[in-house]
Amino acid sequence: MHDKTRPSMPVPGERPNQEADGEPGAGAGPDAALRLTRRRFTAGSLAAATAAASGLSLRELGCSSPDAPATSADATVRMTVNGARVELDIDQRSSLLDVLREQLRLTGAKKGCDHGQCGACTVHLDGRRVASCLTLAAQADGREITTIEGLSPRDGRLHVMQQAFIDRDALQCGYCTPGQIMAAVACVGEGNAGSAEQIREAMSGNLCRCGAYPNIVAAIQQAAPEMEGT
Ligand code: FES
Ligand code: FES
Repeated sequence: MHDKTRPSMPVPGERPNQEADGEPGAGAGPDAALRLTRRRFTAGSLAAATAAASGLSLRELGCSSPDAPATSADATVRMTVNGARVELDIDQRSSLLDVLREQLRLTGAKKGCDHGQCGACTVHLDGRRVASCLTLAAQADGREITTIEGLSPRDGRLHVMQQAFIDRDALQCGYCTPGQIMAAVACVGEGNAGSAEQIREAMSGNLCRCGAYPNIVAAIQQAAPEMEGT
């Protein structure tokens, strides 16, 4: 059951709210990014012009270059990833996707858009699908994460959804496939696999540039009865 005390997590295709301090969120989109760039550019240009006129350096003015990296704020998170407990020192600004891929070397979740729009980075957080590119790793502290690497049982068999994707030829290049499968498992778990139309709607946040959509729907329809029977 969804815990109402926790902040809602971003799902692929959803547009996140702006953060309280007025800075755009990770997926705030190109417009917000443009505003931020202009603001920083304007502040940096004014500081540079003032420094040049007065003969002071930017450091003496108490300003930093607009291109200088912001100060890192580190944190330690403890989470369970694919059944294994891990403790990691992270940059508080890191996305869950970057921590999974770059610190834990779990590269199944893919970075497609990094803006919450393609679903390639879909993982499960406490059993619910999330766009890991829009989820801060710090938000995963104390929680359970499942990636495509942890989906199959440990006896070497594939998860029924993985097998269905193979049986139904539901992929071409395979780049979107880990995210599609994680979303497909969630789709069935959410009770949204009752019809092809329902599946297409529930899977609409996961894009496939190869256009394997009909076969993805067929794979979900194949796996759903078996999953629902277990
Ligand atoms: S939705 Fe996360 S990489 Fe595209
Ligand atoms: S199989 Fe190529 S993007 Fe989906």
